[in-house]
Amino acid sequence: MKVLAILYKGGDAAKSEPRLLGTVENQLGIREWLESQGHEYIVSDSKEGPDSDFQKHIVDAEILITTPFHPGYLTGDLFEKATKLKLCVTAGVGSDHIDLNAAVKKGVQVLEVSGSNVVSVAEHVVMSILLLVRNFVPAHEMIERGDWQVSDIARNAFDLENKVVGTIGAGRIGYRVLQRLVPFDCKELIYYDYAPLPEAAAKAVNARRVEDLKDFVSQCDIVTVNCPLHEGTRGLVNAELLKHFKKGAWLVNTARGAICDKDAVAAALASGHLNGYSGDVWNVQPAPKDHVWRTAKNTLGGGNGMVPHYSGTTLDAQARYANGTKKIIENYLEDKAQEPGNIIVGLGKYESKAYGQR
Ligand code: NAI
Repeated sequence: MKVLAILYKGGDAAKSEPRLLGTVENQLGIREWLESQGHEYIVSDSKEGPDSDFQKHIVDAEILITTPFHPGYLTGDLFEKATKLKLCVTAGVGSDHIDLNAAVKKGVQVLEVSGSNVVSVAEHVVMSILLLVRNFVPAHEMIERGDWQVSDIARNAFDLENKVVGTIGAGRIGYRVLQRLVPFDCKELIYYDYAPLPEAAAKAVNARRVEDLKDFVSQCDIVTVNCPLHEGTRGLVNAELLKHFKKGAWLVNTARGAICDKDAVAAALASGHLNGYSGDVWNVQPAPKDHVWRTAKNTLGGGNGMVPHYSGTTLDAQARYANGTKKIIENYLEDKAQEPGNIIVGLGKYESKAYGQR
């Protein structure tokens, strides 16, 4: 059986740090295990175009492992060529790079290591909210430059206390963000999600649900995006929705780049309608050198907290999703039931309710 993994090249860092498991060099730590059972394990970072290793090996691979950090895009067309494919495993959380409707049609199962990095991301969201609201990045840059002008920073620095924070998506990550915000004494915590939180969970964090998205964003000082990318969320935060944001609001997106319209966000920053944008996910990954989000600024020259896609790939998270990937493959090989929470697409149908209302 052929197992194909599309991972990113970790270079010198991966050679000296074996805990960088999600890299081509360290191969999720499963080569020996797979080969000892007689399976073939192909690992590559080459994923774009017809000559890529991805397209070459997908034709006879039975299991495909990908990560959201260096996504191998399994499109409908590639599904047609992948005649042996039975199982796609996302080493991490978020399987939007797989055409899930095609997977349903073709009877290919798609599993994630659910929960493996949700705390990692929630911590990053809280950090991103704080760094925007407190105007941290320009303050640090000033220090590196050798300058010292407190007023230039303080004129756009605020407290998180007494602000309204809202999450689009209150699943594993969104809810953990709300939990972590409780001690900051925000004015209110609100959420927008077609799946309401269980009453006890909502009560525990004192979160109120708002059912209309425009109404929701108009109430927020800070919006954090924590829903999957699917047909219903692609381009959700666009020029039209941004008009309904409070002037000077901050936006944090660690979910998927394509949920926010890249040019509309940059324009809202430049006009001062948004005071800041922060996150780690991009509509194309790796992001091109001239991607507007790399350098977009608010009217005071700050408000950009963008980083490469790493919030969910801390070393702690990598240990969890590498173990989880192995467990999923082991279950598959031994014909054992999979953990229900990991199944996005089961045999011929969606098992998860998080990828849109169907
Ligand atoms: P989850 O499945 O536990 O929760 C997702 C929630 O979003 C669900 O409650 C669902 O009902 C809601 N949702 C779906 N469509 C919606 C819509 N149109 N409007 C409002 N809410 C909607 O997923 P989890 O674990 O919280 O992860 C969420 C997403 O975060 C992942 O799908 C992935 O894209 C992203 N992620 C990013 C990482 C990173 O490193 N930056 C790492 C892990 C996840």
